[in-house]
Amino acid sequence: MSQPVFQAVETNAPQSLAKLKEFLRIPSVSAKPDHAGECKRCAEWLAAEIRSTGLWTKIVPTKGHPIVLAGNQPQAGRPTVLFYGHYDVQPPEPLDQWLSPPFEPTERDGGLYARGAADDKGQVWCHVEAIRAWQANGGLPVNIIMVIEGEEEIGSDNLETFLREYASQLKADVAVISDTNQFARGIPAITYGLRGLVYMEVIVTGPSHDLHSGMFGGSVPNPANVLSAMLATLHDRDDRVNIPGFYDDVVALTKVERDAWAKLGFDDKQAMQELSLPGLTGEIGFTTLERRWARPTCDINGLTSGYQGPGAKTIIPAKASAKVSMRLVPNQDPKKIQAAFELAMKSRCPSTVTLEFRNFGASPAIVVPIDGKAIKLAGAAVRTGFGAEPVFMREGGSIPVVGQIKTILGIDTLLVGFGLPDDRVHSPNEKFDLDAFHKGMRTAAALYGELAGL
Ligand code: BES
Ligand code: MN
Ligand code: MN
Repeated sequence: MSQPVFQAVETNAPQSLAKLKEFLRIPSVSAKPDHAGECKRCAEWLAAEIRSTGLWTKIVPTKGHPIVLAGNQPQAGRPTVLFYGHYDVQPPEPLDQWLSPPFEPTERDGGLYARGAADDKGQVWCHVEAIRAWQANGGLPVNIIMVIEGEEEIGSDNLETFLREYASQLKADVAVISDTNQFARGIPAITYGLRGLVYMEVIVTGPSHDLHSGMFGGSVPNPANVLSAMLATLHDRDDRVNIPGFYDDVVALTKVERDAWAKLGFDDKQAMQELSLPGLTGEIGFTTLERRWARPTCDINGLTSGYQGPGAKTIIPAKASAKVSMRLVPNQDPKKIQAAFELAMKSRCPSTVTLEFRNFGASPAIVVPIDGKAIKLAGAAVRTGFGAEPVFMREGGSIPVVGQIKTILGIDTLLVGFGLPDDRVHSPNEKFDLDAFHKGMRTAAALYGELAGL
């Protein structure tokens, strides 16, 4: 491995941290329409930074937030790496729970606290700094193409069009994403599977306006009652999802995988403590890791109806709605699952109300083989960067682009993530561990060196 490159990462470390803080100060919240200007500013800032390493950059406008595209001058005979990341972040709310403001990155207890610190700006930044270090020492040893989008957290709606349109410029031997986690502190990981996602909104409409609950109650359909009764049917007593056909295509876990995961030594008691929970729950017959990584779910993510202000207001609400996420596992077809969900809800809805659905994204689960050459090289890079042997794990979360990179571009993705399970991504007080940041930059630097041998 190239010693001067690591030396450059070490020497630059203080500036790297200062730059990451600049990145984190830009509130690139993709979900908020009034933050579109901040997303654009973030893309421009990021492109300028990448350009300063010697790569070419281009800001590609979309129907939503722009995509940052970058690369070096390709050299024949070298492998090409497609790097993907996202510069958009989740909304920071609830604001009153942050110990320091979400867009004023703050160092505390060995972590850098800010929205997007781990998901995904900090991890993207590990790669930018690794590239900077290589570029200052003879140049990257691989051809690189970088795609950093601004709509991952809202479902990557415009990415598919971009991938199709730019497919000829995105040909690569392997894709690299750092948007996942280590297994635990001191145990780095390579992720070889992600769950898919179908996200639905269910809307039940009753009377044309809210009604006095005394005058009308008991004689008209109450959308809140109706919707909660429907939602209550979604699980059976064994915590299995009660939608006909839901499990039809699910691939069963192999004994090899179950044994391997059992050896990872996940501690339920510790998880309970970290989440301040008196107990864990889930589908009967599976361990916590199996439930998170390899079993499909159906969860209410948001639930709204009626009066939510202080004190009492006696009304029958005119409307009730719920947002529901279904995490999918290999072989489940998002379209089929969406249809099965809608059919189940329709068949359980009385004809006295109107039922509507909205879909916010559908992506399949992915699993990549762990015996390929690229993944071995990634393992070597993690070993070098972290000074520890990586474990192979799956994740419960979703990164829709991984499936698109496979189906549209025909490329497998390496998921080499530097986050920690307690980084509180999407939650108040998100952080990126400073040691993980440092080791992540080293790993990214090592990874480009290793992938030169692909
Ligand atoms: N980085 C996460 C995915 C992730 C989460 C990986 C946890 C590993 C552990 C990504 O930014 C994300 O939040 N994805 C969304 C996808 C959705 C918005 C389409 C998710 O999983 O909810
Ligand atoms: Mn992410
Ligand atoms: Mn996320």
